Amino acid sequence: MADALGEVIAKIKDRLDILEVVSERVILKKSGSHYWGLCPFHKEKTPSFSVNPNLGIYKCFSCGEGGDAISFLMKIDGKSFMEVIRDLAEKYGYELPATGGGSSAGMRELKEQMIKACAKAADYYKTYLLQDKSSETLKAMKYLTDRGITKDIIEEYNIGLASSKYTGLYDILRAKFKDEVLEKAGLILESRETGYIDRFRNRIIIPIRNEHGEFVAFGARAIMPEQSPKYLNSSDSLIYNKSKLLYGLYHAKDAIKEENAVILMEGYFDVISAQAHGVKNCVATCGTSLTAEHIKLLSRYTPARRIYLSFDTDSAGQKATKRNAELIKEAFTGLGSIKQFDENYLALSDDKYSCEIRVIAPPEGKDPDEFIRSVGAESYREYIKHAPLLLDFQINCVLKERKDIKTPLEKAELVKKVIPLLQEINNQIVQGEYVKSVADVLEIDEKALLTEVRKKSRAMRAPQPDVSRIVTKNITPAQKAQKNLLSVFLVADNPLNFKQINEKVPDNLFSDETLKIVKSTIDKLICTVNNVKELIEELYTSFIDNPEIHKLITEMIGIAETFSGLDTEDFDALIDENIATIDKCQADEKRKQLRESYINANDDDVKALMIQMQIRDQIK
Ligand code: UTP
Ligand code: MN
Repeated sequence: MADALGEVIAKIKDRLDILEVVSERVILKKSGSHYWGLCPFHKEKTPSFSVNPNLGIYKCFSCGEGGDAISFLMKIDGKSFMEVIRDLAEKYGYELPATGGGSSAGMRELKEQMIKACAKAADYYKTYLLQDKSSETLKAMKYLTDRGITKDIIEEYNIGLASSKYTGLYDILRAKFKDEVLEKAGLILESRETGYIDRFRNRIIIPIRNEHGEFVAFGARAIMPEQSPKYLNSSDSLIYNKSKLLYGLYHAKDAIKEENAVILMEGYFDVISAQAHGVKNCVATCGTSLTAEHIKLLSRYTPARRIYLSFDTDSAGQKATKRNAELIKEAFTGLGSIKQFDENYLALSDDKYSCEIRVIAPPEGKDPDEFIRSVGAESYREYIKHAPLLLDFQINCVLKERKDIKTPLEKAELVKKVIPLLQEINNQIVQGEYVKSVADVLEIDEKALLTEVRKKSRAMRAPQPDVSRIVTKNITPAQKAQKNLLSVFLVADNPLNFKQINEKVPDNLFSDETLKIVKSTIDKLICTVNNVKELIEELYTSFIDNPEIHKLITEMIGIAETFSGLDTEDFDALIDENIATIDKCQADEKRKQLRESYINANDDDVKALMIQMQIRDQIK
């Protein structure tokens, strides 16, 4: 590898964080020193996929797939080593030595131009709103002021106005950007009669930034009631994927981390209003429904996976709550049960649930934006503080309907609705308590309700990851011992340094061809690496194109983990034991060979005699 390239690769490896890389694709939950999730490389319902942040590696105990951050990206995106390196160099802003990879450089340039164009457009719309004094800007300003949007908020969120002119933006940007860039960024449209025209006209502009703060798209709200649609949104583009982006995340991410919780809202203005009033940890989807990708994105910022749903409190909002809660639960399937009770007297692990969903539900009909503006952020905060868990919220919603009941049949319908909710409760005692109070409120027989609930109770506990399911293949004791000896190099907290281990483990012990290759690579690497983590990284990189050895390394890392926590004496004993096993196996093997050749040499007396003597020596 050329030196300059090698240097950049080393820098990239230094920056790479396996948790960050993997959790962009897999929802992870901490358990002990490892993180667990559903394996992205095969279909499964209980997590066997583990990430070890200390070693910078991942491994699936079910399908055996494993490696470091780079091989994870290669595997999951189907990319080559250099493609991944190129992506990462771009992400971290490192310059790669020129290799003439024309098309991807062109693509990168195009994306950069599109992002620049969006930033310029946002600036143009905002400046127009703030500085122009035409009747349309004054009207837009009045509209925003009436909505509680101050100049500060306009500045902070880069809110702007698209004029009703057909080419207001295009006239300015065409000098700086190619038509292709503006069109691909969704800023202009080609019209057959007149050529290019602005896509957004006569609308309030809400620029959409990705989590890094880059401008990538726009939401545009109608000013007049008769304008349709109410919001016109950018379509997906090379720089914008609305299924993976959450509005407000750039402003919210620190607060989400700090509070270890996120509030999911429905609209752009809900987020702007809440954040402007100091409730910072909120986001919204951009005119699209919630996806598993959104949820993964959020889980990266809230390790406790604590999600508040804050939608309209009308019936449409309740439906949205239900729909989104189902999606969230589905995304976290397999990671354990969802939090169902407040046990604040128990200060156990912070992370024992797959997720915690709460509902912020202020009185009827208001979205968070209207509520905060009319009732105040303080009051909204109280609602956050006392937000019920999803299950309590849902049971309460059903119980509230009892006021409208007129006939026994309607009551039966209501009971039907509440039963599946009660069945979700996975603690039988708590379930019994809930049944009691629900029966009481609905004025029905408690025993009858309990029988119904228990009939097909699906209170199933999600099984915890089963580490013992490691697949062990048929290998000889000698091979096993050789693998063990190589694994000794990979023990993170080993009491000996590489040189000391190497002195104890002679090369001629290895008979397996693959293990020989790995051993000689380890010999070379330990002269340059500083620690086990680096050794593992370099090993993976050395065999990046050899899936068999890749698997072997992963397996050895697993073996090495079982050797951790040993003191020098135990560690020495471990090495000696395995060397003894190999010696014994090699001796057995040799004897067996000699015996066989003795039998074959039976008609040649001299040869037979020599072999006999050899066997005797061996036994001695
Ligand atoms: P709502 O219709 O609930 O409006 O849409 P809102 O957010 O309260 O908007 P204001 O307060 O009247 O301005 C919620 C979200 O749904 C998307 C937008 O993201 C909006 O913020 N939406 C709505 C669209 O994308 N297109 C539409 O035509 C309407
Ligand atoms: Mn609203």
